[in-house]
Amino acid sequence: MEVNVSAESFESLVPGGELQEKFKKNHDIIFYRRQRDKAASQYFASFETLLLTDRGASLELCERDSQDRLCLQIRATQSGTVRVSLDELQPVKPRYHVSDVLLGELRYEPLRVNWKREDCVCLTWGLGQYKLLVSFSPFKLEISCDGEEIVTLNPENKLYFETLQDPTRSSSDSCQDDENRCGLWKETFRQFEDIKANGPSSVGMDLSLHGFKHTYGLPEHADTLVLKDTSVTEAYRLYNLDVFGYDINSRLGLYGSVPFLLAHKLERTAGVFWLNASETLVDVKYNPEPNEGEDEPPGKKSKISPQTDVRWISESGTIDCFILLGPTAAQVFSQYAQLTGYQALPPLFSLGYHQCRWNYEDEADVKAVDAGFDLHGIPYDVIWLDIEHTNGKRYFTWDSQLFPNPAELQHHLQKKNRKLVVISDPHIKIDPDWPLYCEAKEGGHFVKNREGVVYEGTCWPGESCYLDFSSSKTRSWYARQFSLSKYEGSTESLFVWNDMNEPSVFNGPEQTMPKDAVHHGGWEHRELHNLYGFYQHMATFEGLLTRSGGTERPFILSRSFFAGSQRLGAIWTGDNVATWEYLKISIPMLLSLSLTGIQFCGADVGGFVQDPDPELLVRWYQAGALQPFFRGHSAKMTKRREPWLFGDDVTSAIRSAVQDRYRLLPYWYTLFHQAHTSALPPIRPLWVEFPSDTSMFAVENQYMIGGALLVCPVTDPGVTEVKVLLPGSDELWYDTNMAAVHNGARTLDLPVTLNTVPVFQRGGTVVPRRAGCGSSTADLQQHPITLTVALDSKGNADGFLYLDDGHSFSYRDQMQFCLRRFTMRAGRLVNSCANDQGSFDSDDKVESVVILGLNSLKRKPKLKPGAPKTTVTFEFDAKRGDMR
Ligand code: NOJ
Repeated sequence: MEVNVSAESFESLVPGGELQEKFKKNHDIIFYRRQRDKAASQYFASFETLLLTDRGASLELCERDSQDRLCLQIRATQSGTVRVSLDELQPVKPRYHVSDVLLGELRYEPLRVNWKREDCVCLTWGLGQYKLLVSFSPFKLEISCDGEEIVTLNPENKLYFETLQDPTRSSSDSCQDDENRCGLWKETFRQFEDIKANGPSSVGMDLSLHGFKHTYGLPEHADTLVLKDTSVTEAYRLYNLDVFGYDINSRLGLYGSVPFLLAHKLERTAGVFWLNASETLVDVKYNPEPNEGEDEPPGKKSKISPQTDVRWISESGTIDCFILLGPTAAQVFSQYAQLTGYQALPPLFSLGYHQCRWNYEDEADVKAVDAGFDLHGIPYDVIWLDIEHTNGKRYFTWDSQLFPNPAELQHHLQKKNRKLVVISDPHIKIDPDWPLYCEAKEGGHFVKNREGVVYEGTCWPGESCYLDFSSSKTRSWYARQFSLSKYEGSTESLFVWNDMNEPSVFNGPEQTMPKDAVHHGGWEHRELHNLYGFYQHMATFEGLLTRSGGTERPFILSRSFFAGSQRLGAIWTGDNVATWEYLKISIPMLLSLSLTGIQFCGADVGGFVQDPDPELLVRWYQAGALQPFFRGHSAKMTKRREPWLFGDDVTSAIRSAVQDRYRLLPYWYTLFHQAHTSALPPIRPLWVEFPSDTSMFAVENQYMIGGALLVCPVTDPGVTEVKVLLPGSDELWYDTNMAAVHNGARTLDLPVTLNTVPVFQRGGTVVPRRAGCGSSTADLQQHPITLTVALDSKGNADGFLYLDDGHSFSYRDQMQFCLRRFTMRAGRLVNSCANDQGSFDSDDKVESVVILGLNSLKRKPKLKPGAPKTTVTFEFDAKRGDMR
């Protein structure tokens, strides 16, 4: 019997315990083994089939032994992305193509023949710096820029496409023989049988990244920032799974997947996006440079070195692979955002602190916790209700004993400008007396099993059905449930949390939905498994958007995600554990998400499972306050841990971390605006800001918030000193806690107490803050702006401030926003308009300017230490909108 995890039995679960056995290891994944064991295939192309149009090129490939034929399409965009798509030329039935992830029709450039030979053709486009060399026998594709090879596709002939077979012909063969014929039509894992309606359908391809020895991305895994060499470990598995208290340093798939890998070397960043929503495994192999003086083995053709080989294998679908050529990291982010979308601009409140627990018991409990924040002077914006707030885990309802007046509760919070978030999972309790269940059933909104009957699985409510969010009709139906008239007890200040949407099915294989379940259009679940959560997120987004008549920015947190989820809201890293290792791993996990577009991300502060000791709790708050999505959350069986329950020292350290977060929100909001418009992630690994410093390429315990702040959260117990790597020999770093400035290119031994949060401002930047922190983000707006101008060695500094109403789409629809630029040059600080398309009425004032680094200037301004404060006069040029 499969272990059935009900809310009650949940309490006995041990993270990393026996339950982990329910998940497959690489050797249990039969399509992966089939692809790996297959001798190299040989696809050939012929020049006669090459067709050039104004949108790219197409070519036929034929496999030497099987004679299977594929259609290859090569397309290129002006911004430096090459798309290589492969599908069967004449499939017995259509294969699944991912829709809804790409933003829309891309604009492709015409490809030109640069030169040709009998066995290859060289194509080019645009200004001609990029070349695509297509070799015919065997097929290979090499992309180079100005003569330098960047990527080769199919270098080792590992391209392998299992063409669909006619099921009527194939199923007449007995399935008994040859161990279910190597899992081709049927496969068993533990007690679960998977009947494959289409038989074998996997696709795979290898590629080499030339000159690269650092790769990143491919979330979600609880693992290092730099991808590991999988020739000695398990491959990266992209398969959305609910893994309670997941192991760290593991390549097992977690709640969401982004099949996007980045590679970085001196002078170039590149990306590979593999658009496929079925289970996918990725192998990474680093081939180092041969040691100097070491001879190449005789007869072995010298490869460009170092080189990283990446092999992608998916269970079904087609090959749709995008090569993003950079050359800078910023360009790769933007190329990727042009494909899958930019980060949604979060409503300002959602960048504040969120207080969650499974569960806040009742209305009185919620009000008491809310009052506790005020009493202890800790700002916060949102309080969350987990599954117990519902009537028997029927989402969109309330437990009438515990929450008899939900609207009144929301008004109570709203008076203080605070919000309520409630959970809404994708499973629907089977209850013929519940109108929502009946409506969904009658409307045909549930996923079916392979027999065509509504699929049933167990989750929190017990026997449940699962909404088929892949259908746009179902998404619209679900979206309507969020309207104020339908969702009783909801108000405009209620926002939503989508959980368990991998989807989690307690009695399903690997605790998820069987792959042979059937979705709208007859597609098997295996085709779109990794999209399930993305589609629920999308439906909820539509719901909140429609609720406001399209005017207000939704806020939705989702546990599951896919490429493109950044357009819909926030995600978090699921069921982590209250230990130091999980605090530490949260940093590379969030950096990997940020690199792959999922930029509004966070980890449960304090650790979800088990009880943190007070020191860990403080350090976690300090780290969480420096991460994009900042929410404290704890599991049902844990002790209460509101910030004031551990004595004054702990309360005071947490208060100070949260207050600092609030004061810094103008900077965070400006960074999110930048993410929304130019795709630069608000938190960035150091290599993104210091791309030519190889010693930064693997740093994962420190990172940058924007281009200005370097942070190094303390993630070890009992430390009195931390080592901080300060990059850049030309850089100056100002310790924001002490009046100290340090030169870059050194490791600093920084003494720390429990109250120290190591944050350094880079010379040459201007960081906007609020002068006070208020009790919520709305309250925060009462405080004037202060600017911290940190001078570089030449006395210069630059920075931005973005302002809008913080909640609506008027910044987009009516251009009601303001983007200011602050520039310090030759002792003059100029405040100018950085985008004259926007206009925004605001009472905001810059009240004070702190200038750091005057002492390091050669020509010192005449300021006497301890001189009485003088009033500085600003001149305002109304015509130019400049202040100086
Ligand atoms: C699992 C989620 O990861 C966790 O955050 C939540 O508290 C529980 N489900 C209960 O809803």
